[in-house]
Amino acid sequence: MGIQDELASTIQSLVQPGQGILAADESHPTIAKRFHAVGVESSEEKRREYRSLILSAPGLGEFISGVILFEETLGQKSLDNVPIPQLLESQGIVPGIKVDKGKQPLVNAPGDEITVGLDGLEDRLEIYKNAGARFAKWRDVFHISDTLPSRQAVEANAEVLARYAAVCQAMGIVPIVEPEVLIDGDHTIERCADVSEAVLREVFWALARHRVQLEHMILKPSMVTPGKENQKATPEQVAEATVRVFRRVVPAAVPGINFLSGGQTPEEATLNLNAINNLGAQPWALSFSYGRALQEPAQKAWAGNLDNGPAAQEAMLKRARLNGAARSGTYSPEMED
Ligand code: 13P
Repeated sequence: MGIQDELASTIQSLVQPGQGILAADESHPTIAKRFHAVGVESSEEKRREYRSLILSAPGLGEFISGVILFEETLGQKSLDNVPIPQLLESQGIVPGIKVDKGKQPLVNAPGDEITVGLDGLEDRLEIYKNAGARFAKWRDVFHISDTLPSRQAVEANAEVLARYAAVCQAMGIVPIVEPEVLIDGDHTIERCADVSEAVLREVFWALARHRVQLEHMILKPSMVTPGKENQKATPEQVAEATVRVFRRVVPAAVPGINFLSGGQTPEEATLNLNAINNLGAQPWALSFSYGRALQEPAQKAWAGNLDNGPAAQEAMLKRARLNGAARSGTYSPEMED
């Protein structure tokens, strides 16, 4: 298959009605934090046990089209001794991989950060592709305050995100382009809308400069919400603000927008996605690529004990199914019971 066909086929598999993406690509410090919350010490074996359990939940492929893995998991075997990428393929799920190397302070821009990891990216992508990955993820973060993010941060992060996306496409790997505007702070939903619009505008300008094919990428943004220390907005308010911003700045050629959950509770993230999909037809598929909002209940159910495996899988499937419904605006809170 040529590179263009490869990209088109991966997009086709990832963007499906009733389905979204599971982000299970937490770095070692992040997964240690999640495990700590359920009383589990993070170790390679515990990470393997937990991730193997949730990824082998029977029927997961009905609601999950792709899973973003961390490098370690791409090379691990399941509890049944099947390589994880192979396990996913057998579930009808496309394996993906987080490729950025995290963030560090942006010099001369106090409070802002820059995502790193472009050095050697091509070589790493080749290894990941041989191991079975067909798509990738790179996350930029933008802090909101009265003065942040600075113009420097918006431009510098957009530039690295676009360069990453161009390298991925040249190698037949679909890039997930993730500019996350953080929920931390006490800002209003209007302030989040302004920052999100400026960030997305800059990201799409950078993608155009680097000749990224919009048809062969997925956007993974944050929803437009008030800061978490501000009053909560209703799902309808979040949906209206989010779709208004996106209609202004996200070209119709982008096939799919898969939101991150960014600290929303599992129920909030499902309600908000449902409200977004209730606003009527939009140019792009509007779905999910949640980490915490899909996994929190499963982690609680597992709590580090293999005997709780079936309960963890059930919890995983439940969130996947409910978000699958939200993907078409057919979720209702009664379905939680
Ligand atoms: P959350 O849904 O927990 O924000 O994670 C999504 C993700 O992949 C962040 O990079």
